[in-house]
Amino acid sequence: MLDFSRADERRQWNSKKWTRFAHDVLPLPVADMDCAVAEPIQAALEARVAHGIFGYDHPPGDAMAVLIAHFAREYDWTVDPAWIVPVAGVVPAQFAANRAFSRGPGSVVAPNPVYHSFPRVPGISGDHALGVPMVTDEAGRDVLDADAFEEALRAPDHAGVALLCNPHNPGGAAYREAELQRIADACAAHDTVMVSDEIWADLVLDPVAHVPMAKVSPQWGVSILAGTKTWNIAGLPLAFVVIPNPELRARFIKATLGYPEITNLAWHASVAAYRDGGPWRAHLLQHLRDQRARIQAFVDARPGLSMPRLEATYLAWIDCRALNRASLHGDCVAAGVGPDDGAAYGLPGYLRFNFACSSDLLDEALVRFAGVIDEA
Ligand SMILES: Cc1ncc(COP(=O)(O)O)c(C=O)c1O
Repeated sequence: MLDFSRADERRQWNSKKWTRFAHDVLPLPVADMDCAVAEPIQAALEARVAHGIFGYDHPPGDAMAVLIAHFAREYDWTVDPAWIVPVAGVVPAQFAANRAFSRGPGSVVAPNPVYHSFPRVPGISGDHALGVPMVTDEAGRDVLDADAFEEALRAPDHAGVALLCNPHNPGGAAYREAELQRIADACAAHDTVMVSDEIWADLVLDPVAHVPMAKVSPQWGVSILAGTKTWNIAGLPLAFVVIPNPELRARFIKATLGYPEITNLAWHASVAAYRDGGPWRAHLLQHLRDQRARIQAFVDARPGLSMPRLEATYLAWIDCRALNRASLHGDCVAAGVGPDDGAAYGLPGYLRFNFACSSDLLDEALVRFAGVIDEA
């Protein structure tokens, strides 16, 4: 069901992941997957392309019903369709949210390290990101430091907006309801809108349910959801911003005025994914669990490496600082294995391996990585 056979062809289609490094380097950066999409998505796209006319369409008629069924089934969450604002991408939604909710210019609270858009988002409204560190809990998960978060909300210049990444990239923690409740309570106490990027929500590998922030806090929570990571359709951007509070929703919609039309192909791909992509997703999750186990075994066998408990995502965030190798990322690339450099997240000495590839590719990548670190 998962087809990795065409991964090599990605270079000729200018894949950012496959053109990042030279041809002889196995590419493991950039968060997309090397497998072809689920058959129902391919079929929906082919049907729409075959029509041959690409004017302005309404979304497919069942779009909202399909989404609402997914939210109910996966997150035990009853969502009113009126709460959902579609936007052409998660990052554009983050920017719109900051413009909509900032009462700055001032500080916008965001985790650190985190996906690279987060620290940039506040700048657009003249705000700046106030990074809150992650801490390792007793289960080995890297989660937001809740005390530091509450402290940051007390900053005199704070702009009334906080950003969260759940599940977290990089690190892979999936927040529990009690953790989210504490964050939400702090936001309520400080009149702060909590904007939660939940693009990884449907790629939780451990047996824990994803909990949307807007479910925990309908008054202050904004949940940005999308099918683009889970079903590998990031090139067809579409995010669903769920805002139960009507006043916040109106402000958000105003901030998206002038945003581009969502393409008809993006609509058809996402709706087919949520409607018919369940069995494919189940196979994917099993494959990713197997890949995670390979990486975990690799890390466990080497005292110089460690990794936070990866509950979700397909991004292994490996702490290699104990190796004391300033040129580690460059050495890896020279040896034919290309992860992301932790320095891009402000943490040199970490590497981020995207393991949403075939098991053969991962095995070879780990052999090459071992050649770099075991020789020293
Ligand atoms: C946490 C997070 N948010 C947003 C994105 C990108 O979202 P989009 O391409 O829809 O803007 C990524 C991509 O890796 C991500 O990891």
